[in-house]
Amino acid sequence: MSDALQRRLDAALAIATEAGQLALRMRPPAGGAVATLKDRQDWLTEADGAVETFISERLAAAFPDDGFQGEETGKGRQGSLTWVVDPIDGTSNFARGAARFCVSLGLIEGRTSVAGVLVAPALGETFAARLGGGATLNGTPIRAANTDDLARAQVECGWSHRRPNADFYGMVQGVMDAGAMLRAGGSGALGLADVAAGRIDAYIEQHINLWDVAAVMAILAEAGAVVSDFTAGNGMTEGNRIFAAAPGIAAALREVTGFVGA
Ligand code: IPD
Repeated sequence: MSDALQRRLDAALAIATEAGQLALRMRPPAGGAVATLKDRQDWLTEADGAVETFISERLAAAFPDDGFQGEETGKGRQGSLTWVVDPIDGTSNFARGAARFCVSLGLIEGRTSVAGVLVAPALGETFAARLGGGATLNGTPIRAANTDDLARAQVECGWSHRRPNADFYGMVQGVMDAGAMLRAGGSGALGLADVAAGRIDAYIEQHINLWDVAAVMAILAEAGAVVSDFTAGNGMTEGNRIFAAAPGIAAALREVTGFVGA
C-alpha cells in the first residue's frame, strides 16, 4: 500500500502545483471581491470551477479506479480510495487578490485521510504527507509546536457562516481570556497546516466541511498534532467541528473553548 500511496502523493503534488498556477493566473486583482456570494461571506469565483475540473480530469486520467469528490461538483466517481478536493480554500482572500489561499487534494480511505497535498502558489508553499511517511513543508519535515502554556500560545479561530455568530464569540472569548494570541486568516486548510508546521499552536472552528480538511488531516496526523474526530456522527457528509492543537496546550484549550469531547 505504501508504494500505491507514494505514487498518488507524487501525482497529487504535480497536479496540485499545476492547479495552483492556474488559480494564480485567474486570481482577481485587489480592490474589492470579484465573485458571487453563495451565503454570508461564502464566495464563488470563476477559478473554483476551472481548477476543480482541471484536477478532476487529471486524476481520472492517472487513477481511473479512484473515486472523486469536489467542493463545487459534489460526489462524482466512486472507488475504494477517494480524492477529495477543494479547488480554492480561502476563497474570500482569493476573490480580492490576496495571497492566503491554497489548492487542497486529500486522499480518503474509508473515513481516514491517508495522504494530502496543499499548494499555496502565492505564498510559495507546499504542504504534503502520507500516513507513515511524515509531513513536509516545501520538502522539509514539520512538527506541531512544543508550546505548553496558553499564555504563550497563538490560536486561529475560524469563522463559519454555517453557525451562529454567538458560537464564534464564545470561542474567541475563551481563547483571549486565557491570554492566548488570536488570529483569523480566512483559510481553514492553511490555518490547520500552520498548526502542523508549529507556526501557530491551534486552529479551532465550529463547522468545517470534508473538502476543507481532507488533505490537511493526514498532514496534522503525521506532524503529531492533537486533532478532534472530524468523522464523528455525520462528519463525512455534513461536516463537523474541528479542533487541532499542539499536544502541550490541547487539554487546556479544550477546557476554555468548550471543545471537551470533540
Ligand atoms: C472556507 C475557508 C474558511 C473556513 C470555512 C471554509 P472556502 O473554505 O476555509 O477559512 O472558515 O469554514 O468553508 O470557502 O474558502 O473553500
